[in-house]
Amino acid sequence: MDDKEFYLDAIRDVVPEHKEEQIQDVFYSFLELEHLYDSAIELVKTQLNIFDNEFSMRFQRNPIHNIESRIKTPQSIVGKLQRKGMPVTPESARNNLTDIAGVRVICCYIDDIYAIADLLTDHSAFQLRKIKDYIKNPKPNGYRSFHMILDVPVYMSNGKEIAPVEIQIRTIAMDFWASLEHQLHYKSTGDPKIAASLTGELKECSETISGIDQKMQDMFKKINLL
Ligand code: GTP
Ligand code: MG
Repeated sequence: MDDKEFYLDAIRDVVPEHKEEQIQDVFYSFLELEHLYDSAIELVKTQLNIFDNEFSMRFQRNPIHNIESRIKTPQSIVGKLQRKGMPVTPESARNNLTDIAGVRVICCYIDDIYAIADLLTDHSAFQLRKIKDYIKNPKPNGYRSFHMILDVPVYMSNGKEIAPVEIQIRTIAMDFWASLEHQLHYKSTGDPKIAASLTGELKECSETISGIDQKMQDMFKKINLL
């Protein structure tokens, strides 16, 4: 099955009340949406790479370890709109969801996270919509990461469009933790006792990791003053 058929099926599955020609219209609007969000991601990634390259030139090191990005699939967009009881249309997706475009920035040190967050906040083209600092205020399960939502302007042939981009900035250690916790979340259909004990162990790991991140940061500062 090609991409188009896959998307059409996804839309048919979740909105069976639509007629076939409406489904084609919905599909094309989703394609436009995908292009807009994809472009917004590229703009953010370009800015991050400029920052990383400048750092490398000036200080001979890269604050960014790697960047990942993703766009929510139409199936997942439609699923989330339905869960939230919102209309299932591309316009509704644009107005109600801020995590269609996602960029994850993995850094070596905690200070790098805040340097990158400041760069993006100070960037005059990007408008800051929301910040959630789960490093200063970790979630009860131990999740740590710095989240921000930026409104990114994209210049199209027929004018400017704004797309929100969700940015998650975290250290390598925080990312390692989040990947395993994510797996537990998705695979916790087994023994609830084991799942509960793993939840406790994960929480402990989060605290250990936080201590290590802090120690690495302190040692990094000392080494660079030698
Ligand atoms: P969603 O509606 O689920 O997107 O959450 P939200 O609007 O409350 O936003 P939040 O900033 O809390 O989380 C957004 C994203 O951060 C999620 O989609 C995950 O990618 C990540 N995230 C948040 N909490 C956790 C967590 O406890 N564990 C892991 N592994 N990832 C998390
Ligand atoms: Mg989300």
